Amino acid sequence: MPKVTITTDNKTIDVPVNYPLINMCEEHDTSILFGCRDGACGACMIKVLEGSEHISPMKDDERDFLETMAAQENERLACQCKVTGDIVIEVSE
Ligand code: FES
Repeated sequence: MPKVTITTDNKTIDVPVNYPLINMCEEHDTSILFGCRDGACGACMIKVLEGSEHISPMKDDERDFLETMAAQENERLACQCKVTGDIVIEVSE
């Protein structure tokens, strides 16, 4: 079972393979915030510190949005991510 560690919250949560990060955050008290839930507002931006290969690949819409926001290479939108293996993330500032 993949482990999601959120350094911002000092928390590690087990999730099923291919589990949407947004569902995990709704079920546990995390400091990742959500707005549109559709990849359009940037409220849920996270930094992937380890295991970026264990997150579902970025779709064009997410890539375009992150480019517009001048996001760093390791930033993702949590509402667009499914977890396939162990990852370590933090909330983007
Ligand atoms: S909640 Fe708006 S981009 Fe993820």
